[in-house]
Amino acid sequence: MDATTKWLAITAALAVITLFSAATNAEETKPPLVVKVVKGKKLCDKGWECKGLSAYCCNHTISDFFQTYQFEELFPKRNTPVAHASGFWDYHSFITAAATYQPLGFGTTGGKNVGQLEVAAFLGHVGSKTSCGYGVATGGPLAWGLCYNKELSPEKTYCDDYYKYDYPCTPGVSYHGRGALPLYWNYNYGKTGEALKVDLLNHPEYLENNATLAFQAAMWKWMTPDKKNKLPSAHDAFVGNWKPTKNDTLAKRVPGFGATINVLHGEQMCGKGDDEAMNNVVSHYLYYLDLMGVGREEAGPHEVLTCGEQLPFGKNPVSTSSS
Ligand SMILES: *[C@@H]1O[C@H](CO)[C@@H](O)[C@H](O)[C@H]1NC(C)=O
Ligand SMILES: *[C@@H]1O[C@H](CO)[C@@H](O)[C@H](O)[C@H]1NC(C)=O
Ligand SMILES: *[C@@H]1O[C@H](CO)[C@@H](O)[C@H](O)[C@H]1NC(C)=O
Repeated sequence: MDATTKWLAITAALAVITLFSAATNAEETKPPLVVKVVKGKKLCDKGWECKGLSAYCCNHTISDFFQTYQFEELFPKRNTPVAHASGFWDYHSFITAAATYQPLGFGTTGGKNVGQLEVAAFLGHVGSKTSCGYGVATGGPLAWGLCYNKELSPEKTYCDDYYKYDYPCTPGVSYHGRGALPLYWNYNYGKTGEALKVDLLNHPEYLENNATLAFQAAMWKWMTPDKKNKLPSAHDAFVGNWKPTKNDTLAKRVPGFGATINVLHGEQMCGKGDDEAMNNVVSHYLYYLDLMGVGREEAGPHEVLTCGEQLPFGKNPVSTSSS
């Protein structure tokens, strides 16, 4: 056997080694963990929550550190009679939607601590976008996340004719804000529907009828880079898969929660110092970290946590060398 054949034989042998280990905690009835080693890399399948032999599934999955009671603590007011989406959002739909993205690293990148931070970060954005806790609402303004699942009094139908060939508006249908990270405009419903293989262009209302789909659309947005506009995904910007270029560094864009705000709301919220809308997102994130028992000090320093001093993605500092 020459060296190459031998190596091939070894990797082939490793590939068929499959270990089964029964769930140790009988109460939780977790499906058995399947571990395979392929070319020296450990891959896992944890059943419904993290399926399909991925390195990420070997790590803690979201239900290991974020459970129903924690979801209830984060969103305690969402089912009160005055909440606008009372009875709509629940933990089950969140975790079902997350099952699609955990094998890709959502909540499963790095150790448990990074996973907790990412879940708090994602939900921080969701909470601030769906909150109806203004002013002196009982429980404080931060207790009212997931109060909405749609824009209540849209003033237009958000149909952009520029996309009439790719994403033509369906007559009589309105593309106003819906979902957990609300979608607006025909082209956003069109793109998201394509990715999720759901006909959102003809049926945008699916997002206000199906909480799993609403969370899934939001997670797809969180996990997907916007290649056309050269934006990293919020996920990559958060966990540090995204590496800043020299221009990013000059523009003070660094991986962290601030960069996720920059990805999702750059022009609206970033590079404006102490912006109120930006602070609202940050406050939700920090509040959720506290409730999850992680502690807000884990969020890092101000320049990582906010995008107040970051230029929006796409903007670069004016070069001083030429002036
Ligand atoms: C799994 O978690 C460990 C830390 O516990 C981390 O070093 C590793 O990178 C994680 N794996 C993946 C694929 O993120
Ligand atoms: C809700 O959406 C999920 C995810 O796309 C889908 O699997 C499920 O069938 C939908 N439920 C209903 C009642 O349409
Ligand atoms: C970096 O920013 C300068 C303007 O300050 C711009 O001319 C240049 O094209 C940018 N480089 C990249 C790679 O975007």
